Amino acid sequence: MKPILLSPPHMGSEELRFVHEAFTTNWIAPVGPNVDAFEAEFCQTVGSAHAVAVSSGTAALHLALRLIGVAPEDEVFCSTLTFVATANPITYMVAKPVFIDSDRTSWNMDPELLSTALKQRDRSGKLPKAVILVHLYGQSADIDPILEICDRYDIPLIEDAAEALGATYKGRTPGTFGRMGIYSFNGNKIITTSGGGMLVSAEPTLMEKARFLATQARDPAPHYQHSEVGYNYRLSNVLAGIGRGQLQVLSERVAARRHNFETYYQALGTLPGLKFMPEAAFGKATRWLTCLTVDPEQFGCDREQIRLALADHHIESRPVWKPLHLQPVFAEAECMGGAVAEHLFQRGLCLPSGSSLTDEDLQRVIQVIQDVYHQKGRS
Ligand SMILES: Cc1ncc(COP(=O)(O)O)c(C=O)c1O
Repeated sequence: MKPILLSPPHMGSEELRFVHEAFTTNWIAPVGPNVDAFEAEFCQTVGSAHAVAVSSGTAALHLALRLIGVAPEDEVFCSTLTFVATANPITYMVAKPVFIDSDRTSWNMDPELLSTALKQRDRSGKLPKAVILVHLYGQSADIDPILEICDRYDIPLIEDAAEALGATYKGRTPGTFGRMGIYSFNGNKIITTSGGGMLVSAEPTLMEKARFLATQARDPAPHYQHSEVGYNYRLSNVLAGIGRGQLQVLSERVAARRHNFETYYQALGTLPGLKFMPEAAFGKATRWLTCLTVDPEQFGCDREQIRLALADHHIESRPVWKPLHLQPVFAEAECMGGAVAEHLFQRGLCLPSGSSLTDEDLQRVIQVIQDVYHQKGRS
């Protein structure tokens, strides 16, 4: 039986042409026309003034924290319901993550909780150096109130839009509201360069410095002089070629993933105990992953039993991210709230959501879940 994966890469028709061009012109290094064009085309797509193409979303986040000047022992506030890559760069900077719980509407950072947490820190005289806001599973967080709170205390906002390329918030692209935003082109993302990322900002000097740091912080001298520690973080011109082809089909990929969601929702939405991730009124989600929660009382079995039944049929599904405040690696970190993210983790499941899924694939997934319900549920 053909395996159905969670979110595999999906190439269009133009990627190979750009990659071939890189080969024929010998632009194989992490510099060249595809990198420049990918940055320019990405800026146009998301509506950002500047972009720097890098080797991963994690690298982009690391650069963002470095550019803000996060120092050892500084606190950085960060969404708790996310992939570990959001917070790892805080540790690279020897800073301390403080996690913030989600709201139930968007599954993203709760603005009220952030406000309370910052008020508290302000009173004790030690505000965080930055806030990292995640836009989860293709859905924007409620950016306006979060930005307003950050501005009130003059704290830079970094948006982790790794999972949200193609989404909107009040008509604009999440990732372009804060001081800097990052995107990922990892193999499982809505578009991919096999591995890669983008850092965006409206500030030219910041992005100039990002390019400098991402190329080993080379001073302008012919003899390789370095006055600062840098990184080898630029994106290869070959991979940028893949990115250019992928950008051309972004809107088709969003439509395909929203179609997956609709198909699941129509077939499974009425089963007792299943609740799909809501789409907040302030934007349009890409449904990068279709996520739902399972109430075991009502459904008759829990999300893990569904996951295992799907696995028996060679179908990959995944629990919703384990909140970072529950991760052993962040055992020492403080968390504001946490019950919402914990609830979503205990009950949440991500269904196969690739843009190349056929209707037949979707029916296979649906059938297994319906069978689980009929065999183990209360119907
Ligand atoms: C929310 C989030 N942030 C950051 C990243 C890191 O991106 P990358 O894998 O490109 O380093 C990912 C995905 O991998 C992610 O899902």
